[in-house]
Amino acid sequence: MPNRSPVLVDLKFNPEAVAAALKTAFADRGSINLADPANRQVDLSHVDYALLWKPDADLFERAPNLKVLFSGGAGVDSMMSIADLPDIPIVRFVDPSLTARMSEWVVLQCLMHLRHAVDHLRNQRDRVWRKYVAPEAREVTVGIMGLGVLGRDAAAKLRVMGFNVIGWSRGKKQIDGVETFDAGELDSFLARTDMLVGLLPLTPETAGFYNAALFSKLRRDGALGAPVFINAGRGGSQVEADIVSAIGSGLLGGASLDVFGVEPLPADDPLWGLEKVVITPHDAALSEEYALLRHVEQQIARFEAGEPLQYLVDHGTGY
Ligand SMILES: NC(=O)c1ccc[n+]([C@@H]2O[C@H](COP(=O)([O-])OP(=O)(O)OC[C@H]3O[C@@H](n4cnc5c(N)ncnc54)[C@H](OP(=O)(O)O)[C@@H]3O)[C@@H](O)[C@H]2O)c1
Repeated sequence: MPNRSPVLVDLKFNPEAVAAALKTAFADRGSINLADPANRQVDLSHVDYALLWKPDADLFERAPNLKVLFSGGAGVDSMMSIADLPDIPIVRFVDPSLTARMSEWVVLQCLMHLRHAVDHLRNQRDRVWRKYVAPEAREVTVGIMGLGVLGRDAAAKLRVMGFNVIGWSRGKKQIDGVETFDAGELDSFLARTDMLVGLLPLTPETAGFYNAALFSKLRRDGALGAPVFINAGRGGSQVEADIVSAIGSGLLGGASLDVFGVEPLPADDPLWGLEKVVITPHDAALSEEYALLRHVEQQIARFEAGEPLQYLVDHGTGY
């Protein structure tokens, strides 16, 4: 076997599943899993590649010769906030199964708010027979913030359900059947939006972005009566106190949140108690371990064949 660098793995999630998936991965080079106590003191100075999610603080000191970093998730905000992050390529996780799961979650939340699902579940618990006249999906405009890998797939699937879909991103996009807006057209985008879907990465620009001022610009005379906020990007982009007040005052008619500033969401957080807020525990689209390791194998094969890496993070914009 040629002298290939092993892959350093420091993933702070699902240790058993990661260890099981590693048994059949990187057959041509092996791996060093830092979750294994036997690897605590191992020499890492010769390692070229690292697959990371919230790595040890001294990792880059111990592995000073890395050539490529791989993120264990689609979002790289936790990686980009590491103080001594080396200036080398960072590849984020992009995978068809993760993308499909996110779109399922987004479509589910839009339909739940459209069809009064939360009211129906409560009425069933209370043995109450009550009909709701819901608008048709085509009468409702879903505005997606972030037209990247996830936003574009969600847009296509919401259109299949009949929703009118518009989208907003830093740069203008061309997407069949979807009216798009660029960063400078934020207010026009918000004024058209009945359901706002957040699929933005967390960066210095998007921190605290979903706040009362933004909610007040959403359309108020649409078929839903009051706008709905749905976020599966990152919790750091939302001001949770503003969501609580907006639900209380009717500025928002409902919300669905998969991500939070503090996770797990503390038991005494007021969001838990709000009937019009659907809470899921950051499981809209999990990184599946086997798919993650296959993706890293493919990117290393490209890199060693002299082909460009895919899904590279821009160190300047932070996503
Ligand atoms: N809840 C979960 O389970 C889960 C799972 C996976 C991912 N996520 C989150 O979803 C996020 C999006 O993933 P993705 O794969 O779709 O990312 P992506 O392909 O990098 O797309 C990001 C999109 O956001 C836009 N954007 C970024 N900063 C912006 C700004 N300041 N103003 C306007 N638009 C901005 C980008 O605009 P341009 O295209 O113009 O650059 C792009 O369209 C991830 O970063 C992660 O935080 C959550």
